Amino acid sequence: MDTPILTADSLVKKFGGLIAVNGVTLSIKKGDMVGLIGPNGSGKTTLFNILTGVYKPDSGKVFFNRERIDGLQPHQIYHKGLVRAFQMPRILQRMTVLDNLLISVKNPGDKFLPALFKRKNWLKFENDIRNKALEILEFLGLEKHCYVPAAELSGGQMKLLEIARALISEPSMILLDEPTAGVNPVLANDIYMKFREIKKNMDITLFIVEHRIELLIGHVDKVHVMHQGKIIAEGKPDDVINNEDVIKVYLGSV
Ligand SMILES: Nc1ncnc2c1ncn2[C@@H]1O[C@H](COP(=O)(O)OP(=O)(O)OP(=O)(O)O)[C@@H](O)[C@H]1O
Ligand SMILES: [Mg+2]
Repeated sequence: MDTPILTADSLVKKFGGLIAVNGVTLSIKKGDMVGLIGPNGSGKTTLFNILTGVYKPDSGKVFFNRERIDGLQPHQIYHKGLVRAFQMPRILQRMTVLDNLLISVKNPGDKFLPALFKRKNWLKFENDIRNKALEILEFLGLEKHCYVPAAELSGGQMKLLEIARALISEPSMILLDEPTAGVNPVLANDIYMKFREIKKNMDITLFIVEHRIELLIGHVDKVHVMHQGKIIAEGKPDDVINNEDVIKVYLGSV
């Protein structure tokens, strides 16, 4: 059970003279729900961008299920089961909620002739995916909205739709960047209760950037703290928030 699913080894990413990620090494255990906290600009999103192939690191390595993945394209990493939910939900406003989910999934019948001959398979695939999408929307409490344009969703519901998009590919790990930003406190807690279910019932490992520390620490197994591109602390939530360096960073005196 101690197997790491994701490992970062000495990652560095520079933007000109700025070192956004400065030698990050960390390991996420399979089946855990882990938080990543740190002040604005500490490098959290940049780290996620490296882990999911959006940026190639200047140096360092990333392993997912023991396979080296740095240098792979984002879609290749996605198909290996490491999926990302974005800080700003990437939702097509005029499409229905259900269609927003369905377009995330690759269709096997993409070549004309094979599609003609394999029409039956293709229809089955469409049907299965649609049922899966409806199940996910129901799990997240969005089933009532499945045929309305996504533009009509509240901010909180859009966050849930972004989570649904991550779930539809049946990943083994999801990275979530501020999944409760701008969401009211009650829904924010509900979202974390859903994360617990995702972890337990779907056996998905979660790595979550969160600014609401008091909310995060009630739900996660472990927390990593970033400051100026480095991991300055990691461990059990209660230990981390009482760590002297972490307190200094958050009080602004480091
Ligand atoms: N594409 C980019 N080009 C230049 N600088 C960038 C780029 N992306 C991020 N940075 C800089 O890198 C540093 C880390 O940014 P990053 O977005 O990773 O921080 P963050 O911890 O996610 O912050 P926040 O909590 O505000 O989302 C910041 O100084 C930011 O301005
Ligand atoms: Mg960020």
